[in-house]
Amino acid sequence: MTTTNGRKKGRCVLITGARRGIGRATAYAFAEKGDDLIVNDVIEDEAARETLDGIAARGGRAHFLKADIADLASHEELVERAFSAFGGLDVLVNNAGISVARRGDMLEATPESFDRLMAVNLRGPFFLTQAVARRWLREAPAPARSIVNIASANAHMASIDRAEYCLSKVGVAMMTKLYALRLAEAGIAVFEIRPGVIRTDMTAVVRASYEKRIAEGLSPVRRWGEPEDVGRVVVALTSGEFQFSTGEVVHVDGGLQIARL
Ligand code: NAI
Repeated sequence: MTTTNGRKKGRCVLITGARRGIGRATAYAFAEKGDDLIVNDVIEDEAARETLDGIAARGGRAHFLKADIADLASHEELVERAFSAFGGLDVLVNNAGISVARRGDMLEATPESFDRLMAVNLRGPFFLTQAVARRWLREAPAPARSIVNIASANAHMASIDRAEYCLSKVGVAMMTKLYALRLAEAGIAVFEIRPGVIRTDMTAVVRASYEKRIAEGLSPVRRWGEPEDVGRVVVALTSGEFQFSTGEVVHVDGGLQIARL
């Protein structure tokens, strides 16, 4: 299908937490395919502007929607505006996430930190997905609708200095399976990506220690993961090429999770 300007009509993709990091790189990867982007983030700043410009430079159209994913009351408007921005929605990427405010002994973890991590990383994405799925099921079926959840290697690997993060991400893993089951009949695929150690602002606080551990062989592929490594996989998973797959997990971690002896 082509638009009036002759450009192949792309899909419309909503990415949460996309003003920087993995979300931004994923937005760029979609834009390079000619897709249109709904960039959500809780912060609207210079970085968000840069992301919108970057999408435009790659040939995509972009629309910014400021919302806190943890605030369920904001979802209805967010979903409404996401669907109306470019005339429908094809892909949801649940990317927004936070780490613990301070890494430390899990025996010192606070209920406040636990609740915040759960609210942003699990409760918010669960209900946003529910809102998008309800809307899709009300509409006529369309091909290649899909959802990608950005979990973490910590959905499987335990880190006792950020217990509540691990718990939130293992919840995302189950959430992927649950929605994959529920939405399979509607032809909506749901995938999970488990990134390893990715070079973003989130990991900036531990850059030096990971630098050393990576050099020592933390992951068999001895380099930092880049946000683009994740973005490319999200685009591939939602391309429609994996038509008999759903609920799958893809590790983007340089082999980090291969058990070794
Ligand atoms: P980042 O901190 O660079 O970017 C996250 C973005 O999400 C920020 O722009 C932030 O403002 C936004 N955000 C935070 N809370 C939000 C909320 N309540 N509502 C809307 N937006 C919100 O982090 P990064 O590294 O790009 O992480 C993206 C996702 O990847 C997260 O879910 C994270 O847990 C996951 N991940 C990251 C890894 C890494 O090594 N960087 C490894 C494994 C998973």
